Amino acid sequence: MTSILMVCLGNICRSPLAHGILESKLPSNQFYVDSAGTANYHIGDAPDHRSIKVAKSHGIDISNQRGRQFKVSDFDTFDFIFTMDDSNYQNVLALARNTNDIAKVKCILDVDYSIENKQVPDPYYGDDLGFEHVFQLLDKACILLSKKLQNIDI
Ligand code: 4NP
Repeated sequence: MTSILMVCLGNICRSPLAHGILESKLPSNQFYVDSAGTANYHIGDAPDHRSIKVAKSHGIDISNQRGRQFKVSDFDTFDFIFTMDDSNYQNVLALARNTNDIAKVKCILDVDYSIENKQVPDPYYGDDLGFEHVFQLLDKACILLSKKLQNIDI
């Protein structure tokens, strides 16, 4: 089993989408996908209703996910840890215990060489269009990532 963790700040907007999108593209008997936030604001909460809505409009149900905070033992549990932006990346790296932990962490848009801005913008204070934009960024990245994880040439 290969395990992948998606990380953002609150674990209610971006990482639940990344979690649901990647999970939908990988066989569940070979891959385990989860998500977490670096902050403790939304522990136990369902994803933001706008993330649930945009995922549903693309055929993905993320309504059963619940927020949790990133913890140091996630470095042991997961093979790959993908953050949504540089701030999440720095927050996760600050908890790394060794070079092995550090090597597991990447920004998710680094997988997409065609785009220059590698940040998945935080849509929390924006509108529905921002959530659709985040969905599109993550969907493209997860198509590439799912192929890489399954060793399919891209
Ligand atoms: P996320 O967005 O990191 O994509 O889940 C946020 C959600 C909530 C807050 C910040 C960012 N907040 O401050 O509560």
